[in-house]
Amino acid sequence: MPDTCHRHDVLILGSGAAGLSLALRLGDDLSVGVVSKRELIEGSTVYAQGGISAVLDARDSIESHVQDTLKAGAGLCDREVVRFVVERGPDNIRWLLDQGVEFTRDEERLSAGGYHLTREGGHSHRRVVHAADATGRAIATTLESQVRDRRNVTLYEQHIAVDLITSRHLPDSQDHRCLGAYILDRGTGRVETFLARFVVLATGGASKVYLYTSNPDVSTGDGIAMAWRAGCRVANMEFMQFHPTCLYHPEARTFLVTEALRGEGAHLLLPDGERFMPRFDPRAELAPRDVVARAIDHEMKRLGSECVYLDISHRPADFIIEHFPTVHGRCLELGIDITREPIPVVPAAHYTCGGVMVDRHARTDLPGLYASGETAYTGLHGANRMASNSLLECLVYSEAAAADIARLMPDASDPQEVPHWDESRVTEPDEEVVVTHNWDELRRFMWDYVGIVRTNKRLRRAKRRADLLAQEVIEYYSHFRVGNDLIELRNLLEVADLIIQSALRRRESRGLHYTLDHLAKDVSQRTPTILIPDDYQPRPRG
Ligand code: FAD
Ligand code: SIN
Repeated sequence: MPDTCHRHDVLILGSGAAGLSLALRLGDDLSVGVVSKRELIEGSTVYAQGGISAVLDARDSIESHVQDTLKAGAGLCDREVVRFVVERGPDNIRWLLDQGVEFTRDEERLSAGGYHLTREGGHSHRRVVHAADATGRAIATTLESQVRDRRNVTLYEQHIAVDLITSRHLPDSQDHRCLGAYILDRGTGRVETFLARFVVLATGGASKVYLYTSNPDVSTGDGIAMAWRAGCRVANMEFMQFHPTCLYHPEARTFLVTEALRGEGAHLLLPDGERFMPRFDPRAELAPRDVVARAIDHEMKRLGSECVYLDISHRPADFIIEHFPTVHGRCLELGIDITREPIPVVPAAHYTCGGVMVDRHARTDLPGLYASGETAYTGLHGANRMASNSLLECLVYSEAAAADIARLMPDASDPQEVPHWDESRVTEPDEEVVVTHNWDELRRFMWDYVGIVRTNKRLRRAKRRADLLAQEVIEYYSHFRVGNDLIELRNLLEVADLIIQSALRRRESRGLHYTLDHLAKDVSQRTPTILIPDDYQPRPRG
């Protein structure tokens, strides 16, 4: 069979809020390819519950949103980026409304244009616009139906990107540019060549590197690993966010219980019914996530308990059912009636604050390559992301990338032919158990040694194990035909190594990075952790 080569003006890897909003913002005269490793809708976006933060209430202000974000970020946010994103908030909400997203209304709240705004941790105002507790589903399904109608957009579902193609793949090239990607068609098992003038990584986060996570299976850090291998810098990978309240139930390990419950008055309780958050922070249940997750971890370890409880049953039942139909329905299926009883919860890995370094146009270090959404490091979140700032960041940076691509498109030429994927020296995998065993081992030691509370000793222990697994997996990768699980495992190992390396470098506790060896913040370390690959080439100016 001849090797297939697909060509587009813009190739977008990923179909969450970042990928689809970008596809819709690009001009319809451009040929756009959107690649998604499962069905188009599958990714973190569709599971988002709480909402999107933006200054919509006349009594709120841009300055207040900026200050709350900076405070949650524990001194590591880039102030200019925070202002840039927050200022773009209201327009991006309007853009979503124009696409047809239906947010929950509150006709009495005229100061907020008739939309209901909820509160979440770290926010000093009600500024989270939402569609009940299924905001992500409202956004994802709307963007999906819009993009399916676009004739200039070709969708490649069940296709997983293996690696980026850069000018290094061309013999004798003096250029330094991204040219496309090698992509595995999961249906046929063949790796195909995709070439494009511009490539965008919108592949989401990496929380699957941990045993317990709120994230779907696709969150394996593929974009971060691919960009790193292609010579891009990554930053702040030690700041992995743990959401304080995931449902603790054997049949629903990844189900999130939205922070908006706490915004609407839910209390965190110990097994004996004691409310404990006021002992840890004056903001109690509405302290930023790092504080709440650490407090829960501390209390669980102190008491040897398997979970704590989240109780909203003191609010009227009809209010709970109207505002939290998803949480209410899912819990009821599992025999928990949240209008009458507390919900058992535990923290779980939730969000990757670090990622591929980008500038204000979403450009990475590699010309022709952009990154947007959870896969990117923009400087917005610093050492700890404030709730509901993530979807906003996806929209703002995809808007910026679309504008930059439109500006540069007239001067961009079609990439020339590159070598096709070479499978001549590989055979069918003989021991899939290597992949499944190493997946499990990696995710368990990351949870045990690189979790909410760290020590140098645990991190070094994790590093030794990650190095061993990486050796084994690289060897396996070079001998056997690639499949989805092997591609993801290789990327997870790459990302685990970046997280551990970054955590070992930060010799203080700040935001989400908390180590028993250095309990305090150290002002001299008030800078992002930037990892530079061996073959890094600075991007030419312009
Ligand atoms: P995703 O939505 O994760 O999409 C990634 C896409 O990339 C998927 O289509 C995936 O298939 C594809 N992909 C990945 N690797 C490859 C590959 N190698 N090849 C091809 N395709 C690939 N944030 C908020 O702001 N508000 C909230 O209320 C909120 N609630 C959340 C609730 C949950 C349960 C979770 C998990 C997250 C929540 N977040 C929330 C965070 C937010 O949802 C995510 O950060 C955001 O949706 C990320 O969007 P994205 O487009 O970057 O990635
Ligand atoms: C939630 O609804 O608690 C998640 C919000 C977020 O991750 O921003």
